[in-house]
Amino acid sequence: MLGVIWERPEPRPAWIDQYWIDSDKRDAFEIVITMGIADIVLKERGQIILKGSDLYGALFKKNAKEFLPSIFYRKRKKAQSVLDLTCGWARDAIRLAQHGIQVIGFEQSAIPYLFSCYAKNFYFPDLDFDLYHGSFHEHSWVYESVWPWVYLDPLFADNRPGLSKKEMELLYQEKFFFSSAPFSVSEQNHLLKDRVQDLKIETLVMKQHRHANAWFDLSGILSVTKYSRVCRFDIYYLNQLRLKEAKKI
Ligand SMILES: C[S@@+](CC[C@H](N)C(=O)[O-])C[C@H]1O[C@@H](n2cnc3c(N)ncnc32)[C@H](O)[C@@H]1O
Repeated sequence: MLGVIWERPEPRPAWIDQYWIDSDKRDAFEIVITMGIADIVLKERGQIILKGSDLYGALFKKNAKEFLPSIFYRKRKKAQSVLDLTCGWARDAIRLAQHGIQVIGFEQSAIPYLFSCYAKNFYFPDLDFDLYHGSFHEHSWVYESVWPWVYLDPLFADNRPGLSKKEMELLYQEKFFFSSAPFSVSEQNHLLKDRVQDLKIETLVMKQHRHANAWFDLSGILSVTKYSRVCRFDIYYLNQLRLKEAKKI
């Protein structure tokens, strides 16, 4: 289990409690949530390797011309809510929420989930986004509704360190999966691909590496592709179809 050290006054919030361990039984990795300078830091054997203030620094200033929110428009109407199935460190979720979109996010891995909870509770308390720990498929209600917008930002299976940011490189390392997601990147992506096929989706936004192969064979489906500097966003208009039905069209 991951060691989480809460240096703030009691009571500890519920999202901390599931990771709480005795200080003398700490693992190599620990997350320290500090009181004085109000930050969350990830340490490996005592060395700080990631800080919440660095990770979220760029988000403290709302940028009116942000690329990602500009994608979540259909017929000039902005998305009201987005289901972010691969929420990660929640930077995309936060950016969308800053632009007035309600976000429901899922993250299966402990380290990014804890960082996201911290960001939500202490850096961006006024934003409208909900976070769930675990894979989305563990929540049966997700399969009961039609989702107007679904966002998928999986880990790039082909590790390209030149393009990865520091925190993404951390996630690529298998040792980081020990805490809650004991799968390799390709196994994770395989599971994700399989599980997402049963959702009823209006519009799917899929973030990919510029030169990655498309995940789904959606040749009969209306789609648009947009490019940012390093990524490609494939936008599919599924109109309530499940991906597994859309594949047959
Ligand atoms: C590239 S990161 C997402 C980064 C995120 N968009 C951000 O802005 O910080 C992909 C994340 O998806 C998570 N993930 C993969 N499969 C998942 C699943 N089935 N359910 C929940 N999270 C999943 C991984 O643990 C990883 O943290």
